[in-house]
Amino acid sequence: MSDVTGMPASAVVIGGGSDLARAVLERLARRRLRHCVLAGRSPERLQESADALARAGVTEVETVVLDVRDRSVRDAFVESCLARLNTVDLVLVAAGTLPNEGLDVLSPDEVADTIETNFTGPAALTFAFARRLVAQGSGRIVVFSSVAGARVRKANFVYGSSKAGLDGFCQGLGDALSGTGVKVMIVRPGFVPTRLTDGRSRQPLATSVDAVADAVVRGLESGAEDVYVPASLRVLFGVARLVPRALWRRAPS
Ligand SMILES: NC(=O)c1ccc[n+]([C@@H]2O[C@H](COP(=O)([O-])OP(=O)(O)OC[C@H]3O[C@@H](n4cnc5c(N)ncnc54)[C@H](OP(=O)(O)O)[C@@H]3O)[C@@H](O)[C@H]2O)c1
Repeated sequence: MSDVTGMPASAVVIGGGSDLARAVLERLARRRLRHCVLAGRSPERLQESADALARAGVTEVETVVLDVRDRSVRDAFVESCLARLNTVDLVLVAAGTLPNEGLDVLSPDEVADTIETNFTGPAALTFAFARRLVAQGSGRIVVFSSVAGARVRKANFVYGSSKAGLDGFCQGLGDALSGTGVKVMIVRPGFVPTRLTDGRSRQPLATSVDAVADAVVRGLESGAEDVYVPASLRVLFGVARLVPRALWRRAPS
């Protein structure tokens, strides 16, 4: 069970090879994280993260090859995590993909893949874990959304809409879990240089992996329901939501 400061002893990570997830977990390892299941597609990336966590003090790290789009393994995966960890204090959802967008670039299949990877796959897994955490009577779910979903831009409307879907799902889930002992925290970073954004030009108000990881830990400590990184993006996107579409579509790519 998480301690009084909100720090977990056990975690399941979906997208376990993610750069952002690894930075969060390394910080949690310095507190009291000891047992972890890392699930993702690439065994190499999972092993890199597992090694880093072992060095940071996590005593038991297991890796599971999992594609969030694969419905057939979902229930067995959730059950196996419960069996391995006994109690799951934290479910961290970090799986995501950022396609090169454009009407003439993306295929319809790539649109579907992006939405399954960023929205429907993570939502179904989060839902399955939420039910188990309610039965357990406690737990935190932390989900990487994005400011790209706070107001969808034409430049990346497939990624943005997939994150908007996940974000809305998690807001509703958090409300549905009210009073159960299980809480959802939505993290909305701006541009962060990671493997996801490799080769892309830096966006205004970019932030760093360390800043995001520190904000996630602070959010866990304070019991936050949502976190923007940098924090100024909360105000910026509060205003952006009010901008008329005729103006918004002229926003630079
Ligand atoms: N970096 C940013 O600027 C930024 C900004 C806002 C939000 N975010 C979100 O933060 C999260 C973490 O991103 P990151 O920056 O840490 O990038 P990252 O290092 O590339 O992490 C993304 C992870 O998602 C995994 N993944 C992709 N498709 C998957 C699938 N079908 N099934 C299972 N796992 C899959 C990848 O694993 P494989 O490589 O093995 O496929 C990778 O470990 C993502 O949800 C991203 O959208 C990032």
